[in-house]
Amino acid sequence: MSILSTAVGKVGLKTPGMVASGIMDETGASMVRMLKAGAGAVVSKSIGSEPKAGHANPCFTEVEGGLVNAMGLPGPGIELFAEEMAEAVPHGNIVGSVAGGNADEFAMLAGKMEDYKACAVELNLSCPHAKGYGMEIGTDPALVKSIVAAVKSAVNIPVWVKLTPNTHILQQIALAAQDGGADAIVAINTLKAMVISPEFAKPFLSNKFGGLSGPAVKPVGVRAIYDLKSVVSVPLVGVGGITNWRDAAEYIMAGADAFQIGSAVLTDGPEVFAKVNDGLEKFMKDYGYASIKSMVGAAHE
Ligand SMILES: Cc1cc2nc3c(=O)[nH]c(=O)nc-3n(C[C@H](O)[C@H](O)[C@H](O)COP(=O)(O)O)c2cc1C
Repeated sequence: MSILSTAVGKVGLKTPGMVASGIMDETGASMVRMLKAGAGAVVSKSIGSEPKAGHANPCFTEVEGGLVNAMGLPGPGIELFAEEMAEAVPHGNIVGSVAGGNADEFAMLAGKMEDYKACAVELNLSCPHAKGYGMEIGTDPALVKSIVAAVKSAVNIPVWVKLTPNTHILQQIALAAQDGGADAIVAINTLKAMVISPEFAKPFLSNKFGGLSGPAVKPVGVRAIYDLKSVVSVPLVGVGGITNWRDAAEYIMAGADAFQIGSAVLTDGPEVFAKVNDGLEKFMKDYGYASIKSMVGAAHE
């Protein structure tokens, strides 16, 4: 077994870095490309019940230290996504991310992802810019618990719950997800953000608000994982601003069993996985860590 192998509960990973939802994961071909680049798994784009166009342009812009996007969860809808899953699943672990508006819809979408042979389903309870979805339902602990419980009773594959940092009750929300039966918690999604064009005297994005990702959010994500590790017992997956092995090591030492990379795949290319894996392996050998698991939560001791 390689020094870099890890597991998120029952999901074994050859390498600890996964592709975060929404980046190079809308087609079977792009998901296969990410697996070949060294990702231990790919989390699909969040898929809803029906085809969705997403928000009008501009829906994406670079800022200092990151990106602000308001894609609005565009996608082909769950029925058509079957084809993409069929192409990708034979090549490795695909986590099916789903975005519903209520518990029944989440349960239906998760059931489809199980039919499509996803190794786990990730519930997007955290998108900051899709009305009626994501963060709007993921900041109410009672609702989070009921959605997770409904999905758990509908599927046998592990259920991961992706949380938003746009709340002051992150720990309560995570405990609610755990009470509902979550098998793992993923944090963080993007931070609600805005960019204004001084020339036009109005918000730059068509949706006005978007989500900040990239290096600027990393300390927020690391803090979130550290806080979560202190209260929940389910495995954690860290995401937000990872571009190199140091960032990944921070998340692992805060308490994550594995991590995801999003924006850096866009800015640095799929090669980012090989770069992070190589750096992490060298660090672990230099500092005497025999496995990823032996590093998990090290910063708490
Ligand atoms: C262009 C773009 C699209 C995204 N789409 C999704 C999505 O469909 N579902 C989701 O849960 N998160 C989505 N995210 C959030 C990422 O999965 C990730 O949580 C966030 O960007 C922080 O990680 P990063 O700094 O490595 O990008 C998206 C992010 C970006 C930049």
